[in-house]
Amino acid sequence: MSNPAPAPQKRVLSGMRPTGKLHLGNYMGALHNWVRLQDQYECYFFIADLHALTTDYADPSAIAPNTREVALDFLAAGLDPERCTVFIQSRVKPHYELPLLLGMITPLGWLERVPSYKEMQENLSSKDLTTYGFLGYPVLMASDILLYKADFVPVGQDQQAHVELTREIARRFNQFYKRPPIRNVGDILRRPTAEEAMYILPEPQVLLTPSPKLPGTDGRKMSKSYGNTILLSDPEREIRAKLKPMVTDPARVRRSDPGNPDKCPVGDLHKIFSSQETLAKVYDGCTTAGIGCIECKTWAADAIVAHLAPIQERRARFEQQPALVEEILAAGEERAHVRAEQTMVDVRAAMGLAQSAQGVVAQ
Ligand code: TRP
Ligand code: SF4
Repeated sequence: MSNPAPAPQKRVLSGMRPTGKLHLGNYMGALHNWVRLQDQYECYFFIADLHALTTDYADPSAIAPNTREVALDFLAAGLDPERCTVFIQSRVKPHYELPLLLGMITPLGWLERVPSYKEMQENLSSKDLTTYGFLGYPVLMASDILLYKADFVPVGQDQQAHVELTREIARRFNQFYKRPPIRNVGDILRRPTAEEAMYILPEPQVLLTPSPKLPGTDGRKMSKSYGNTILLSDPEREIRAKLKPMVTDPARVRRSDPGNPDKCPVGDLHKIFSSQETLAKVYDGCTTAGIGCIECKTWAADAIVAHLAPIQERRARFEQQPALVEEILAAGEERAHVRAEQTMVDVRAAMGLAQSAQGVVAQ
């Protein structure tokens, strides 16, 4: 009696630029969600160091140390190398190869129309971003996604347009090139699904990350460029010190003025990190002027410190074992390479490139 083969797990892929030690905004906006996804999908999560070069090419000295910090934060936050593939983009060579090939079919107009293109050029006016690499950034991102034939790409709203463009590039590719006939035993054994059999590059879907409003200490969106962040790796006293001067409901000028947690950035932190009981105490105490902001901030700090404690314990363990971290990244790189190279074999053939017999056997 043979049971039908289980449906292959859907694939998820996402990446993050190596901006240095991650903050609570990075965590709630992405990483926290990724940790949940690793139990439901075949997941690939990577550090997009090549993407960092699109803006930081003139001084790349921070990229390697930042990549290391992000790797530590990934593992500390709970990405589990047993349950997902964690790797560094630049170590997997197909990430250099596919962008060149997809660049051949990507119309310039599509790239110039990407909303963040002009915007980022203006925002980062201190850098010369009139480069081929910066314009081609969405092709790099499309390649990241298509190399793994990801079904879902968990990203925030700011990256949605890039995934849309990835779909358009995949569609254009599939219109030009059809799947080549079966060439070897591996193709038969792999038993492509009906969809795979038709298209070489399936179109990914956005998996919008539900991201609660997470203000920085000045009340604006938490962002490294605003200098208002709380880092995942900040020690307890640092977290408490950062919360102390945090902006509150402007209506609460004096201790005796009632306030509204819905109009207060500290209230937003409570909504994310505090228990229902604490939250009830905050609403009650704030709206009746029964508690002071200093006390309220202490509670918020308590909740954040408690949430980060297991993350910081894991980070400390990984920091003490650099060889283990390296081993994890090497294993991730290997797994990612196998998957990406499978795609490249099809892409090269489809685009008329002769491959060495060795390349085909090696897959
Ligand atoms: N561009 C993304 C960012 O700036 C990072 C990224 C690179 C990415 N490649 C990706 C995200 C592929 C999702 C899928 O945050
Ligand atoms: Fe904000 Fe808390 Fe002060 Fe209310 S009591 S204004 S929620 S800090």
